[in-house]
Amino acid sequence: ADPVSFYGEHQAGIVTPAQDRLHFVSFDVITKKRDELIEVLQEWTAAAARMTQGKDAGTFGAVGGAEEAPPDDTGEALGLPASGLTITIGFGASLFDDRFGLAAKKPAALAGLPKFPGEDLRPEISGGDICIQACAHDPQVAVHAVRNLARIGFGKVSVRWSQLGFGRTSSTSRAQATARNLMGFKDGTNNLKLEDAAMLRDNLWAAPGDGPAWMAGGSYMVTRKIRMNIETWDRTSLSEQQEIFGRDKGEGAPLGKKKEFDQIDFAAKKPDGTPVIPMDAHIRLAHPTTHGGARLLRRGYNYVDGSDGLGRLDAGLFFISYQRDPHKQFVPIQMELARKDTLNEYIKHISSGLFACPPGLRDAGDHWGRSLF
Ligand code: HEM
Repeated sequence: ADPVSFYGEHQAGIVTPAQDRLHFVSFDVITKKRDELIEVLQEWTAAAARMTQGKDAGTFGAVGGAEEAPPDDTGEALGLPASGLTITIGFGASLFDDRFGLAAKKPAALAGLPKFPGEDLRPEISGGDICIQACAHDPQVAVHAVRNLARIGFGKVSVRWSQLGFGRTSSTSRAQATARNLMGFKDGTNNLKLEDAAMLRDNLWAAPGDGPAWMAGGSYMVTRKIRMNIETWDRTSLSEQQEIFGRDKGEGAPLGKKKEFDQIDFAAKKPDGTPVIPMDAHIRLAHPTTHGGARLLRRGYNYVDGSDGLGRLDAGLFFISYQRDPHKQFVPIQMELARKDTLNEYIKHISSGLFACPPGLRDAGDHWGRSLF
Protein backbone atom coordinates (compact mmCIF):
# COMPACT_ATOMS: atom_id res chain seq x y z
CA ALA A 1 0.00 0.00 0.00
CA ASP A 2 1.15 3.56 -0.71
CA PRO A 3 1.89 5.83 2.24
CA VAL A 4 -1.19 7.73 3.47
CA SER A 5 -0.85 11.51 3.18
CA PHE A 6 -0.23 13.21 6.53
CA TYR A 7 -1.77 16.51 5.38
CA GLY A 8 -5.32 17.44 4.42
CA GLU A 9 -8.56 19.04 5.56
CA HIS A 10 -9.13 16.26 8.11
CA GLN A 11 -6.68 14.11 10.05
CA ALA A 12 -5.79 10.79 8.47
CA GLY A 13 -6.81 7.69 10.42
CA ILE A 14 -10.53 8.52 10.63
CA VAL A 15 -12.10 7.85 7.23
CA THR A 16 -8.87 6.24 6.00
CA PRO A 17 -9.85 2.63 5.16
CA ALA A 18 -9.26 0.91 8.51
CA GLN A 19 -5.83 -0.73 8.66
CA ASP A 20 -5.28 -4.16 10.24
CA ARG A 21 -3.43 -3.12 13.40
CA LEU A 22 -3.65 -0.58 16.17
CA HIS A 23 -1.36 0.80 18.84
CA PHE A 24 -3.28 3.32 20.88
CA VAL A 25 -1.64 5.38 23.62
CA SER A 26 -2.88 7.93 26.10
CA PHE A 27 -0.44 10.40 27.68
CA ASP A 28 -0.56 12.62 30.73
CA VAL A 29 1.32 15.89 30.38
CA ILE A 30 3.77 16.15 33.26
CA THR A 31 5.55 19.38 32.41
CA LYS A 32 3.92 22.47 33.90
CA LYS A 33 5.33 24.71 31.19
CA ARG A 34 3.08 25.67 28.30
CA ASP A 35 6.11 26.25 26.03
CA GLU A 36 7.41 22.76 26.65
CA LEU A 37 4.05 21.26 25.77
CA ILE A 38 3.95 23.23 22.51
CA GLU A 39 7.50 22.07 21.79
CA VAL A 40 6.51 18.42 22.24
CA LEU A 41 3.56 18.87 19.88
CA GLN A 42 5.85 20.45 17.27
CA GLU A 43 8.44 17.69 17.56
CA TRP A 44 5.72 15.04 17.42
CA THR A 45 4.26 16.57 14.28
CA ALA A 46 7.61 16.50 12.50
CA ALA A 47 8.26 12.90 13.57
CA ALA A 48 4.74 11.79 12.60
CA ALA A 49 5.05 13.44 9.17
CA ARG A 50 8.24 11.45 8.58
CA MET A 51 7.13 8.10 10.01
CA THR A 52 3.83 8.05 8.10
CA GLN A 53 5.91 8.29 4.90
CA GLY A 54 8.01 5.30 5.94
CA LYS A 55 11.00 7.34 7.15
CA ASP A 56 12.89 7.41 10.46
CA ALA A 57 11.41 9.53 13.27
CA GLY A 58 14.34 11.99 13.24
CA THR A 59 16.48 13.46 10.46
CA PHE A 60 19.58 11.40 11.30
CA GLY A 61 17.65 8.21 11.82
CA ALA A 62 18.47 5.00 13.59
CA VAL A 63 22.10 4.76 12.43
CA GLY A 64 23.01 8.05 10.68
CA GLY A 65 23.75 10.22 13.72
CA ALA A 66 26.76 10.75 15.97
CA GLU A 67 28.03 7.55 17.57
CA GLU A 68 28.25 9.18 21.03
CA ALA A 69 24.54 10.11 21.05
CA PRO A 70 21.39 8.00 21.32
CA PRO A 71 19.92 7.64 17.81
CA ASP A 72 16.92 9.85 16.94
CA ASP A 73 15.03 6.76 15.79
CA THR A 74 14.80 3.49 17.70
CA GLY A 75 15.42 1.37 14.59
CA GLU A 76 12.89 -1.44 14.66
CA ALA A 77 11.14 -0.15 11.53
CA LEU A 78 14.34 0.03 9.45
CA GLY A 79 13.64 -1.58 6.09
CA LEU A 80 9.87 -1.73 6.66
CA PRO A 81 7.53 0.20 4.34
CA ALA A 82 5.08 2.84 5.66
CA SER A 83 2.46 0.05 5.84
CA GLY A 84 -0.41 2.53 5.61
CA LEU A 85 0.60 4.14 8.93
CA THR A 86 -1.66 6.92 10.16
CA ILE A 87 -1.06 8.84 13.38
CA THR A 88 -4.11 10.64 14.74
CA ILE A 89 -4.02 12.96 17.77
CA GLY A 90 -6.78 13.83 20.24
CA PHE A 91 -6.98 16.11 23.28
CA GLY A 92 -8.78 15.01 26.46
CA ALA A 93 -10.85 17.22 28.78
CA SER A 94 -8.10 17.22 31.43
CA LEU A 95 -5.76 19.15 29.09
CA PHE A 96 -8.17 22.09 29.36
CA ASP A 97 -7.87 22.54 33.13
CA ASP A 98 -5.97 25.56 34.44
CA ARG A 99 -2.46 24.25 33.81
CA PHE A 100 -1.93 25.60 30.30
CA GLY A 101 -4.40 28.46 30.04
CA LEU A 102 -6.70 26.49 27.73
CA ALA A 103 -9.90 26.54 29.82
CA ALA A 104 -11.66 29.03 27.55
CA LYS A 105 -10.97 26.85 24.53
CA LYS A 106 -12.49 23.67 25.91
CA PRO A 107 -15.24 22.35 23.64
CA ALA A 108 -18.59 21.73 25.37
CA ALA A 109 -18.56 18.35 23.58
CA LEU A 110 -15.74 17.25 25.94
CA ALA A 111 -18.09 17.32 28.95
CA GLY A 112 -17.72 14.02 30.83
CA LEU A 113 -19.68 11.00 29.65
CA PRO A 114 -22.49 9.93 31.99
CA LYS A 115 -22.17 6.79 34.06
CA PHE A 116 -23.66 3.92 32.05
CA PRO A 117 -25.41 1.01 33.80
CA GLY A 118 -23.16 -2.04 34.16
CA GLU A 119 -19.83 -0.42 33.33
CA ASP A 120 -16.83 -1.10 35.54
CA LEU A 121 -14.32 1.53 34.49
CA ARG A 122 -10.73 1.38 35.66
CA PRO A 123 -9.32 4.93 35.97
CA GLU A 124 -5.71 3.83 35.33
CA ILE A 125 -6.65 2.72 31.81
CA SER A 126 -9.14 5.53 31.12
CA GLY A 127 -8.92 9.16 30.05
CA GLY A 128 -5.66 11.05 29.66
CA ASP A 129 -4.57 14.50 28.43
CA ILE A 130 -3.52 13.54 24.89
CA CYS A 131 -4.11 10.40 22.88
CA ILE A 132 -2.43 9.03 19.80
CA GLN A 133 -4.08 6.44 17.58
CA ALA A 134 -1.47 4.74 15.39
CA CYS A 135 -2.89 2.37 12.77
CA ALA A 136 -0.90 0.37 10.22
CA HIS A 137 -0.98 -2.91 8.37
CA ASP A 138 2.17 -4.03 10.21
CA PRO A 139 2.06 -4.12 14.04
CA GLN A 140 5.78 -3.35 14.26
CA VAL A 141 5.24 -0.12 12.34
CA ALA A 142 2.41 0.98 14.65
CA VAL A 143 4.41 0.14 17.77
CA HIS A 144 7.48 1.92 16.37
CA ALA A 145 5.42 5.08 15.89
CA VAL A 146 4.06 5.13 19.43
CA ARG A 147 7.41 4.21 20.96
CA ASN A 148 9.21 7.05 19.18
CA LEU A 149 6.59 9.62 20.15
CA ALA A 150 6.89 8.49 23.79
CA ARG A 151 10.69 8.73 23.51
CA ILE A 152 10.49 12.27 22.08
CA GLY A 153 8.11 13.35 24.85
CA PHE A 154 10.19 11.85 27.67
CA GLY A 155 10.14 14.04 30.80
CA LYS A 156 7.32 16.22 29.45
CA VAL A 157 4.61 13.65 28.91
CA SER A 158 4.25 10.17 30.39
CA VAL A 159 2.37 7.18 29.07
CA ARG A 160 -0.83 6.74 31.09
CA TRP A 161 -2.09 3.62 29.29
CA SER A 162 -1.81 1.98 25.93
CA GLN A 163 -3.58 -0.71 23.95
CA LEU A 164 -2.61 -3.01 21.11
CA GLY A 165 -5.30 -4.14 18.69
CA PHE A 166 -5.49 -6.52 15.76
CA GLY A 167 -8.10 -7.48 13.19
CA ARG A 168 -10.01 -4.28 12.50
CA THR A 169 -13.64 -4.71 13.55
CA SER A 170 -14.96 -2.11 11.19
CA SER A 171 -14.75 -1.28 7.56
CA THR A 172 -14.72 2.44 6.84
CA SER A 173 -14.89 2.16 3.04
CA ARG A 174 -17.21 0.29 0.68
CA ALA A 175 -14.09 -1.04 -1.04
CA GLN A 176 -13.27 -3.10 2.08
CA ALA A 177 -14.73 -6.49 2.98
CA THR A 178 -16.35 -6.51 6.42
CA ALA A 179 -14.07 -8.09 9.02
CA ARG A 180 -15.23 -10.09 12.05
CA ASN A 181 -15.00 -9.39 15.76
CA LEU A 182 -14.01 -12.01 18.35
CA MET A 183 -17.63 -13.12 18.70
CA GLY A 184 -17.32 -14.32 15.11
CA PHE A 185 -19.75 -11.80 13.59
CA LYS A 186 -19.14 -9.40 10.73
CA ASP A 187 -18.71 -6.00 12.34
CA GLY A 188 -18.97 -2.74 10.43
CA THR A 189 -21.70 -3.57 7.92
CA ASN A 190 -23.85 -0.56 8.73
CA ASN A 191 -20.98 1.75 9.53
CA LEU A 192 -20.46 5.28 8.25
CA LYS A 193 -18.14 4.98 5.28
CA LEU A 194 -15.72 7.22 3.45
CA GLU A 195 -18.03 7.29 0.43
CA ASP A 196 -21.04 8.69 2.38
CA ALA A 197 -20.12 12.37 1.87
CA ALA A 198 -23.41 13.90 3.05
CA MET A 199 -23.67 11.65 6.11
CA LEU A 200 -20.05 12.36 7.05
CA ARG A 201 -20.78 16.06 6.93
CA ASP A 202 -23.82 15.65 9.18
CA ASN A 203 -22.48 13.00 11.56
CA LEU A 204 -18.68 13.01 11.59
CA TRP A 205 -17.01 16.40 11.22
CA ALA A 206 -17.42 19.27 13.65
CA ALA A 207 -18.79 22.27 11.71
CA PRO A 208 -17.65 25.88 12.23
CA GLY A 209 -20.63 26.85 14.43
CA ASP A 210 -20.56 23.68 16.56
CA GLY A 211 -18.02 24.75 19.16
CA PRO A 212 -14.63 26.46 19.37
CA ALA A 213 -13.21 27.56 16.00
CA TRP A 214 -10.08 25.41 16.43
CA MET A 215 -12.20 22.22 16.19
CA ALA A 216 -13.93 23.01 12.86
CA GLY A 217 -13.14 20.09 10.55
CA GLY A 218 -12.16 17.91 13.50
CA SER A 219 -14.08 15.08 15.13
CA TYR A 220 -14.67 13.68 18.62
CA MET A 221 -13.34 10.24 19.47
CA VAL A 222 -14.77 7.87 22.07
CA THR A 223 -12.79 4.81 23.17
CA ARG A 224 -14.25 1.96 25.21
CA LYS A 225 -12.30 -1.14 26.12
CA ILE A 226 -14.95 -3.86 26.21
CA ARG A 227 -13.93 -7.16 27.76
CA MET A 228 -15.75 -10.21 26.40
CA ASN A 229 -16.62 -13.31 28.39
CA ILE A 230 -15.47 -15.37 25.48
CA GLU A 231 -15.88 -18.72 27.27
CA THR A 232 -19.53 -18.06 28.13
CA TRP A 233 -20.23 -16.80 24.61
CA ASP A 234 -18.69 -19.94 23.14
CA ARG A 235 -21.22 -22.08 25.03
CA THR A 236 -24.18 -20.12 23.66
CA SER A 237 -26.25 -21.61 20.84
CA LEU A 238 -25.94 -20.27 17.31
CA SER A 239 -29.56 -19.14 17.24
CA GLU A 240 -29.17 -17.25 20.54
CA GLN A 241 -25.98 -15.58 19.20
CA GLN A 242 -27.78 -14.50 16.03
CA GLU A 243 -30.80 -13.16 17.92
CA ILE A 244 -28.52 -11.09 20.15
CA PHE A 245 -27.12 -9.17 17.18
CA GLY A 246 -30.15 -9.48 14.85
CA ARG A 247 -27.96 -10.79 12.03
CA ASP A 248 -26.91 -14.23 10.86
CA LYS A 249 -23.40 -15.34 11.62
CA GLY A 250 -22.26 -16.67 8.25
CA GLU A 251 -23.34 -14.00 5.79
CA GLY A 252 -24.03 -11.16 8.22
CA ALA A 253 -27.50 -10.62 6.71
CA PRO A 254 -30.21 -9.05 8.87
CA LEU A 255 -32.43 -11.87 10.22
CA GLY A 256 -35.14 -12.62 7.68
CA LYS A 257 -32.98 -11.43 4.77
CA LYS A 258 -30.38 -13.14 2.58
CA LYS A 259 -27.45 -10.81 1.95
CA GLU A 260 -25.19 -8.77 4.22
CA PHE A 261 -26.20 -5.40 2.80
CA ASP A 262 -29.95 -6.13 2.46
CA GLN A 263 -32.13 -3.52 4.11
CA ILE A 264 -33.08 -4.38 7.71
CA ASP A 265 -36.85 -4.96 8.15
CA PHE A 266 -37.63 -4.14 11.77
CA ALA A 267 -41.37 -4.61 11.25
CA ALA A 268 -41.21 -8.22 10.00
CA LYS A 269 -43.01 -10.78 12.19
CA LYS A 270 -42.60 -14.53 12.57
CA PRO A 271 -45.69 -16.75 12.06
CA ASP A 272 -46.24 -16.67 15.85
CA GLY A 273 -46.40 -12.87 15.79
CA THR A 274 -43.06 -12.17 17.48
CA PRO A 275 -40.59 -9.85 15.69
CA VAL A 276 -38.03 -11.48 13.37
CA ILE A 277 -35.46 -9.03 14.76
CA PRO A 278 -35.95 -9.18 18.53
CA MET A 279 -36.86 -5.95 20.30
CA ASP A 280 -33.58 -6.09 22.25
CA ALA A 281 -31.35 -7.04 19.28
CA HIS A 282 -28.13 -5.04 19.12
CA ILE A 283 -28.76 -3.70 15.61
CA ARG A 284 -32.25 -2.50 16.56
CA LEU A 285 -31.10 -0.72 19.72
CA ALA A 286 -28.12 0.90 17.95
CA HIS A 287 -29.85 1.73 14.67
CA PRO A 288 -30.17 5.39 13.53
CA THR A 289 -33.98 5.08 13.39
CA THR A 290 -33.94 4.49 17.17
CA HIS A 291 -31.85 7.64 17.71
CA GLY A 292 -33.29 10.35 15.46
CA GLY A 293 -30.85 9.50 12.67
CA ALA A 294 -27.66 9.63 14.80
CA ARG A 295 -24.79 7.59 13.36
CA LEU A 296 -21.22 6.76 14.38
CA LEU A 297 -18.08 6.03 12.46
CA ARG A 298 -16.86 2.91 14.26
CA ARG A 299 -13.17 2.11 13.94
CA GLY A 300 -12.42 -0.48 16.63
CA TYR A 301 -10.03 -3.42 16.95
CA ASN A 302 -9.99 -6.84 18.57
CA TYR A 303 -7.63 -7.29 21.48
CA VAL A 304 -6.20 -10.26 23.38
CA ASP A 305 -4.02 -9.21 26.33
CA GLY A 306 -2.96 -12.78 27.12
CA SER A 307 -4.98 -14.61 29.76
CA ASP A 308 -6.30 -13.60 33.15
CA GLY A 309 -4.74 -16.25 35.40
CA LEU A 310 -8.15 -17.84 35.92
CA GLY A 311 -8.07 -19.93 32.76
CA ARG A 312 -9.80 -17.36 30.60
CA LEU A 313 -8.64 -15.25 27.68
CA ASP A 314 -8.32 -11.57 28.52
CA ALA A 315 -9.93 -10.51 25.27
CA GLY A 316 -12.53 -8.27 23.72
CA LEU A 317 -13.16 -5.25 21.58
CA PHE A 318 -11.28 -1.98 21.78
CA PHE A 319 -14.18 0.12 20.55
CA ILE A 320 -13.39 3.44 18.88
CA SER A 321 -16.00 5.72 17.41
CA TYR A 322 -15.75 9.13 15.80
CA GLN A 323 -18.62 11.57 15.74
CA ARG A 324 -19.52 15.22 15.45
CA ASP A 325 -21.00 15.38 18.96
CA PRO A 326 -20.52 12.45 21.36
CA HIS A 327 -23.37 13.62 23.60
CA LYS A 328 -25.88 13.45 20.74
CA GLN A 329 -24.51 10.28 19.14
CA PHE A 330 -22.42 7.92 21.26
CA VAL A 331 -24.17 8.71 24.56
CA PRO A 332 -27.81 8.00 23.62
CA ILE A 333 -26.81 4.88 21.65
CA GLN A 334 -24.66 3.50 24.47
CA MET A 335 -27.35 4.36 27.05
CA GLU A 336 -29.89 2.32 25.09
CA LEU A 337 -27.42 -0.56 24.71
CA ALA A 338 -26.38 -0.44 28.37
CA ARG A 339 -30.03 -0.68 29.47
CA LYS A 340 -31.41 -3.26 27.07
CA ASP A 341 -28.80 -5.13 25.01
CA THR A 342 -28.75 -8.90 25.69
CA LEU A 343 -25.08 -8.70 24.68
CA ASN A 344 -24.43 -7.21 28.15
CA GLU A 345 -24.48 -10.73 29.60
CA TYR A 346 -21.27 -11.38 27.69
CA ILE A 347 -19.39 -8.08 27.87
CA LYS A 348 -18.13 -5.47 30.34
CA HIS A 349 -16.91 -1.95 29.57
CA ILE A 350 -13.67 -1.50 31.52
CA SER A 351 -12.11 1.67 30.16
CA SER A 352 -13.33 4.88 28.59
CA GLY A 353 -11.86 7.85 26.78
CA LEU A 354 -13.19 10.99 25.11
CA PHE A 355 -10.90 13.13 22.96
CA ALA A 356 -11.20 16.13 20.67
CA CYS A 357 -9.34 15.38 17.43
CA PRO A 358 -8.49 18.64 15.70
CA PRO A 359 -8.75 19.13 11.93
CA GLY A 360 -5.93 18.08 9.61
CA LEU A 361 -2.65 19.91 9.08
CA ARG A 362 -2.18 22.10 6.00
CA ASP A 363 1.48 21.50 5.22
CA ALA A 364 4.93 21.11 6.75
CA GLY A 365 4.72 24.60 8.33
CA ASP A 366 1.69 23.58 10.37
CA HIS A 367 1.79 21.60 13.63
CA TRP A 368 -0.55 19.82 16.04
CA GLY A 369 -2.21 22.23 18.44
CA ARG A 370 -1.25 25.33 16.41
CA SER A 371 -4.80 26.70 16.39
CA LEU A 372 -5.31 25.75 20.04
CA PHE A 373 -2.45 27.62 21.76
C1 HEM B 1 -23.67 -2.93 14.77
C2 HEM B 1 -20.98 -5.96 17.43
C3 HEM B 1 -20.55 -2.57 20.87
C4 HEM B 1 -22.85 0.56 18.00
C5 HEM B 1 -23.01 -4.06 15.20
C6 HEM B 1 -22.98 -5.34 14.51
C7 HEM B 1 -22.20 -6.18 15.26
C8 HEM B 1 -21.77 -5.45 16.42
C9 HEM B 1 -21.86 -7.62 14.94
C10 HEM B 1 -23.70 -5.67 13.20
C11 HEM B 1 -22.91 -5.34 11.97
C12 HEM B 1 -22.75 -3.88 11.68
O1 HEM B 1 -23.67 -3.22 11.17
O2 HEM B 1 -21.66 -3.37 11.99
C13 HEM B 1 -20.65 -5.30 18.61
C14 HEM B 1 -19.92 -5.91 19.70
C15 HEM B 1 -19.81 -4.95 20.68
C16 HEM B 1 -20.46 -3.77 20.18
C17 HEM B 1 -19.39 -7.34 19.72
C18 HEM B 1 -19.15 -5.02 22.03
C19 HEM B 1 -18.25 -5.91 22.39
C20 HEM B 1 -21.12 -1.41 20.39
C21 HEM B 1 -21.13 -0.14 21.07
C22 HEM B 1 -21.76 0.74 20.26
C23 HEM B 1 -22.18 0.01 19.07
C24 HEM B 1 -20.51 0.14 22.44
C25 HEM B 1 -22.05 2.21 20.47
C26 HEM B 1 -22.39 2.75 21.63
C27 HEM B 1 -23.25 -0.11 16.89
C28 HEM B 1 -23.97 0.52 15.79
C29 HEM B 1 -24.23 -0.50 14.86
C30 HEM B 1 -23.66 -1.72 15.41
C31 HEM B 1 -24.34 2.00 15.67
C32 HEM B 1 -24.98 -0.37 13.53
C33 HEM B 1 -26.44 -0.61 13.70
C34 HEM B 1 -27.18 -0.41 12.39
O3 HEM B 1 -27.33 0.74 11.98
O4 HEM B 1 -27.59 -1.41 11.76
N1 HEM B 1 -22.27 -4.16 16.37
N2 HEM B 1 -20.96 -4.01 18.93
N3 HEM B 1 -21.77 -1.29 19.19
N4 HEM B 1 -23.09 -1.44 16.64
FE1 HEM B 1 -22.09 -2.75 17.80
